Amino acid sequence: MKRSISDVFCLLLFLLLLSGTVGASEVYDFNSGWLFLHADQQIQPVPFKEHRSVWSGAKASTAEATWPFAGVNYDESEFRPVELPHDWAVEDGFFPEENGEQGYRKRGWGYYRKRFFVPSSWKGKRVELQFEGIATHSTFWINQSLYHHNYSGYNTITMDISPALQYGRDNIVAVEVNAAVSEGWWYEGAGIYRDARIIISDPVHIATDDGILVNAEIKIDGWDVNGHVKVLNTSGSDISPSVDIEIFDPDGKKIETRRTVPAIPANSAQLVPFSIRCATPRLWTPDTPELYQMKVTMKNQSRLLDEKTVNFGFRVFSFNFSNGFTLNGKQIKIRGVCNHQDHAGVGVAVPASIEEYRIRKIKEMGANAYRCAHNPPSKNILDLCDRYGLLVIEENRAFNTGPEWLEYVRAQVRRDRNHPCVIAWSIFNEEPLQGEYRGQEIARELYNTVKSEDKTRPVLAAMNGGLFSADSARTVLDVVGLNYQYDVIDKFHDAYPNTPVILTEGASAFETRGEYSTDKEKLTCTSYDTEAASWGSTHRKDWQTVMDRKYLSGSFVWTAFDYHGEPTPYNGKFPANSSYFGCMDLCGFPKTAYYIRQALWLEKPVLHVAPHWNWDGKEGEELDVFCATNVETVTLILNGRNLGTFEIDPMNMLTQKVPYEPGTLIAIGKNNDREVIRTQVETTGEPAALRLIPDRATIDADGYDAVPVTVCAVDASGRVVPTGNVPVEFSISGPGRNIGVGNGDPTCILSEKADSRPTFNGYAQVIVQSKRGKTGTIKITATSGNLKSATCTIKAADAPVRPSIEGFVKGEVSISGWKASQPTAAKPEVSDYANNEAILKATPAELGNELRLKPKDWILFYTKCKTPAKVKENGGSLHFIGTTGKVEFYLNGKKVYEKKNFLTEDIVLPIEPGTEDLDFSILMQTDNRGKILLADAAYISTAKLKAVTTPAKP
Ligand code: GAL
Repeated sequence: MKRSISDVFCLLLFLLLLSGTVGASEVYDFNSGWLFLHADQQIQPVPFKEHRSVWSGAKASTAEATWPFAGVNYDESEFRPVELPHDWAVEDGFFPEENGEQGYRKRGWGYYRKRFFVPSSWKGKRVELQFEGIATHSTFWINQSLYHHNYSGYNTITMDISPALQYGRDNIVAVEVNAAVSEGWWYEGAGIYRDARIIISDPVHIATDDGILVNAEIKIDGWDVNGHVKVLNTSGSDISPSVDIEIFDPDGKKIETRRTVPAIPANSAQLVPFSIRCATPRLWTPDTPELYQMKVTMKNQSRLLDEKTVNFGFRVFSFNFSNGFTLNGKQIKIRGVCNHQDHAGVGVAVPASIEEYRIRKIKEMGANAYRCAHNPPSKNILDLCDRYGLLVIEENRAFNTGPEWLEYVRAQVRRDRNHPCVIAWSIFNEEPLQGEYRGQEIARELYNTVKSEDKTRPVLAAMNGGLFSADSARTVLDVVGLNYQYDVIDKFHDAYPNTPVILTEGASAFETRGEYSTDKEKLTCTSYDTEAASWGSTHRKDWQTVMDRKYLSGSFVWTAFDYHGEPTPYNGKFPANSSYFGCMDLCGFPKTAYYIRQALWLEKPVLHVAPHWNWDGKEGEELDVFCATNVETVTLILNGRNLGTFEIDPMNMLTQKVPYEPGTLIAIGKNNDREVIRTQVETTGEPAALRLIPDRATIDADGYDAVPVTVCAVDASGRVVPTGNVPVEFSISGPGRNIGVGNGDPTCILSEKADSRPTFNGYAQVIVQSKRGKTGTIKITATSGNLKSATCTIKAADAPVRPSIEGFVKGEVSISGWKASQPTAAKPEVSDYANNEAILKATPAELGNELRLKPKDWILFYTKCKTPAKVKENGGSLHFIGTTGKVEFYLNGKKVYEKKNFLTEDIVLPIEPGTEDLDFSILMQTDNRGKILLADAAYISTAKLKAVTTPAKP
């Protein structure tokens, strides 16, 4: 029999978990096997009044009574299976009555439940549950105990759940997500939208996320790599482990090692410091993002306790009040972009590979910096910025000095302070209190909080006012970030010449991709870089402002990509539902602004001509032809006629009137009278065919890797029709799936989770993701009525599958319809009952219903059901949770399990592939107190577990 990679993997993982050989911290995905319910209203707790239930509802692990949703027995029939990362807001349609700033989506409440098996071998380990981001407020229950609350949609939540787990048994995590609240004025999505993980460590381990602090400091004669390893010892014994530090250069060559043997007292957290000299390292810059690695290995004698690796880099920078920004001694302008985190088709649940696609596009546009507006990003975004070379301003909007918010800020800084890409912490964006005493005090406290965790980076804030008051938050910042306020930049610099300044937001110009007029009915914005928000500027003016001022460190354009929500200038004008600010649209297709930024930011010749040349009916009319370019002259040639050679203004570029006639308009760009670049626009025919262009030809068959596939409407000669709006149907065969579609039209209200999407001005996008462990060829077909259809293939290549803790989806495979026999003092013969339902009591026996019988009485529970198709095909397992009493378990007439004591346990039994029907006879005997419980829950799972006999609970 051929086993798939994931089968083999699951088996290995299971054996590993049972064998208890977890050495170094192990990180497992916790993304699969969740059940989910979207609700308009909160599921209310039960308001108990009677003494017994009030008393028991107040105790740990009996929260089921108070919080029914978190209970083992909660009715999951309305729930559906989901995989994380998950954003439910993007799954539904658009609703005009909903909040347009959040993209007219139904947010409301979401409920997640996951059952998973915890092997006995984890006992004594430290088990952490981590959620990287949940929108927006969340509450967590572990095995029915209310465990934690979190009040932001952007922070990483890590909980030590070791004391709350049941070892050798099934466990349940329940998460209530309140997305009826919002934190921002843009689309924030809804749900567990970033990765979830389980981290299992030895009681003596290196702390998760902030366990290694590395800081490369320049000295007169080289660099010192300073920092510490944070060791946690919850073992109850003193220990002196060896801590080995190794540094690897960007080629993977080991260049330095250090060993320390610190004394770590029982139940303590210790910072183990190090300082390692590196004489001449390669420097990290946006152009040469050289990354070093530090590996820390901790052992007790020869036993591995933990091992962790972090990336770091060597760079030195400063923000100066007169020279602007300097990196490694060289003054550079910060060519920044602001971004929210969502993408077409997937909302905020953006696969890591789509984040990489976006970062790549930003680099291709010529940017060297990224501002995480207005919140901490996923860990992956920062890893990408390290690798691709983007300087980062990492922001939060925790403008509050309450204890939870200060901890939020501390944790943010501790998580991210090793990244060489991060050059500043921003502690707020446009806070109304920024110009008054309260704001100043909050900023001061937040400033000190950041500095208590990281003194190596400046603290700034993005201010849109309150700059000149004596009580301004300005007074406590290292660098002042100005959002727009172009008219006061110089006044500010004159008033505070010793304060470094940067434009934390610039431009806020509007464009609809491929549209060349602003039409308030059609809700479009022209793409000539002529329109911007009243507080903003065009792209060209924004950059002119930066280049004219030496002291200005740079500007962060609002934004690189369009984002869902905030459809300025058409706020409140349904169906406009996503932004117009992007240099690229929601899919990453470039607008004119993208080429303008390239022309302003790249060294190489750039020449882009706008508009397209399909203006049927406008023959003879003068059109504005705009060239986004950085060359010295451009010659325009229309249908072979030379229209002239034009000097290019490096900032304004070229806008030239040209009478329209169909055909070809060629632009030739020259420097020093030599042609360096040429481009053309031409009149195309009607759409005649489709074309598919995958962004990559091969993806990893790991179940996460995803690739955007562009579909274009082309004419009979294969030219993209820039006005082509044609319906497109997608079908996918092979080991891939469609996880979302888009086309960059901010007014489109078709579902983003669909097998179809019309092209918008020539283009649409379908995002295709691999399936876990399934290699082969993914074939994508796009069809559109009579147009010639297109196909393309993507190879899903063998790749490591991330270790995962699977969930058991109970749902429709719950085992129900139980009947019970009359209790008897004598042990009955099972065969008497199993095939003779007449002697079973008519009243059904209920799961979760504890019975009180006479001491030592016997009772038989009986039911039967069909084996679910998937389990019949592949095998699976039976789960009886919380069974209390002596048990003889018969399956299809055969005794498969016996328990001789009267204690409570979970029974987990395998179901072999090919099993048709399941016929259960469960013979049970009570203890001396007469207590008996068939099970709290009984269900069939597709998880293929071996029989698990569990430790009995006293
Ligand atoms: C800024 C704000 C951004 C966005 C932008 C639109 O004031 O910080 O979040 O709303 O305006 O122009």
